[in-house]
Amino acid sequence: MASKLPDVKSHGGGAEDGGGGKKWPGFVQFFFVLSVVLCVLLYAPRLFVLTSTYGIDFFAQPPPPRTSSRVVGQADNAGVGDVVVLDNQLPSPCSSLPGDTICCDRSDFNTDVCFMAGDVRLDPASLSLLLFGKQPPAPNATLEERVRPYTRKWETFIMGKIEEVRLRMAHPAEEDGHRCDVRHDAPLLVMTAGGYTGNLFHAFSDGFVPAWLTVQHLRRRVVLGVLSYNPWWAGTFSEIISGLTDYHVVDLLHDKRTHCFPGAIVGTRFHGILAVDPTRLRDNKTIIDFHDLLADVYETGEPQQEPAAARRPRLGIVSRRGTRVIENQAAVAQLGRSVGFDVDILETANGLPLSASYAAVSACDVLVGVHGADLTKFLFLRPGAALVQVAPLGVPPIARGCYAEASARMGLHYEQYDAEGHESSLSRRYGLRDAVVSDPEAAKRDKGWGFVARVYLGGQNVTLDVARFRETLSRMHAHALRVRSSHLQGALD
Ligand SMILES: *[C@@H]1O[C@H](CO)[C@@H](O)[C@H](O)[C@H]1NC(C)=O
Ligand SMILES: *[C@@H]1O[C@H](CO)[C@@H](O)[C@H](O)[C@H]1NC(C)=O
Ligand SMILES: *[C@@H]1O[C@H](CO)[C@@H](O)[C@H](O)[C@H]1NC(C)=O
Repeated sequence: MASKLPDVKSHGGGAEDGGGGKKWPGFVQFFFVLSVVLCVLLYAPRLFVLTSTYGIDFFAQPPPPRTSSRVVGQADNAGVGDVVVLDNQLPSPCSSLPGDTICCDRSDFNTDVCFMAGDVRLDPASLSLLLFGKQPPAPNATLEERVRPYTRKWETFIMGKIEEVRLRMAHPAEEDGHRCDVRHDAPLLVMTAGGYTGNLFHAFSDGFVPAWLTVQHLRRRVVLGVLSYNPWWAGTFSEIISGLTDYHVVDLLHDKRTHCFPGAIVGTRFHGILAVDPTRLRDNKTIIDFHDLLADVYETGEPQQEPAAARRPRLGIVSRRGTRVIENQAAVAQLGRSVGFDVDILETANGLPLSASYAAVSACDVLVGVHGADLTKFLFLRPGAALVQVAPLGVPPIARGCYAEASARMGLHYEQYDAEGHESSLSRRYGLRDAVVSDPEAAKRDKGWGFVARVYLGGQNVTLDVARFRETLSRMHAHALRVRSSHLQGALD
């Protein structure tokens, strides 16, 4: 391997930063922008659990030495020697990118992504990637492009917070000033740990799922160059990061060295909310393949020996704090047991690492929770399991938009339990007959997102109607038993 190991100091990490503080203002900033986020979830208290798991251990093992491979933009050469194709998407204007060129695909509503193949060198001072061509560029070649690598291109406010990366053809005379300090044998992916990444839903929907579907075909032979790199991000998502790359992460804004790559991808593709569209990928990958990555990185220990048939189906109840709380959670847990489940209360914001959440959630046959960012953990459920999303008043469309399709595509059974007026704490405040309670859609009209965020998302708890919710849980219990018996059947066949 040609690359030197970046020292931890150059990443601005380490305990002395204590996380937060002035160095990572992005953490704090996202609180101010929440009110404009559509599919979201007020506050992620986990945000404050900084640096605890950050450290040298986060880095993946150095990859084994390899002969260098040639990176090209186009697929036509696939099979000729050890060739790496950068753009895995079809159709794409960049899928037949010749070497020594820059190509951007700006055709998507959500995201721009640029590719460059050849001798690519990072100029940290100007946040530029310079392409040193073997020959002078053709007269009509693209000489320069600029891109902000984030998947919410339509949202001006947040895009303004994402650094702009320049890609340009370099003049041979510039070579002197750009000698390689670190030479990588794998291409670079530029992504950001900023934007709304402090929120778990966005971390996956805007960040990791897009990053994965952009580079999974490289099989971890890709270097992540990360904007707004911070210890919280590196620590919280260390396993997932090591599932994306075999290399050390480059902290683009703090690392002053000239890193060199055989190619680069700046920005990520986006296929929808927590979505992977197999028809747009050369290798037909799906969100289930993304789930498999999570299983690979988190299921490190011994598989559970407990035979499935020996235990009752397991119901996980996601337990929020502060807002959108299930006020009669104990009664709901009791109901779950009486219906035939083993019940596990999954506390959110408990400071435990994601690996612990993975272990708890993946053991569940059914996951129940009120709408919120933590339900993104449905990605941890095994295919065949079920997700029941409780939507408080005014929230059903948002709830559905976030998780219904996404969970179904993952092979989960999805049900949404829309709270009725008498189950909402808003009935105590406004009375059952106030439009806020009796007709939330009408009440929301013309009021804007701030009203939805304050009243329906930020100011509401639920008390589930035990008689009504029993029907849902009974159905889920029967579903779990059916899935189990079909698995057993499959095992016997
Ligand atoms: C540049 O011109 C050449 C020759 O005219 C043509 O084949 C090529 O497609 C053009 N490239 C671009 C990027 O327009
Ligand atoms: C992807 O799907 C297409 C269309 O169904 C098929 O022709 C192709 O062989 C598949 N590719 C892979 C790598 O499985
Ligand atoms: C919701 O429940 C939490 C926890 O019990 C409580 O702190 C909060 O005040 C409740 N909110 C409303 C609107 O009742």
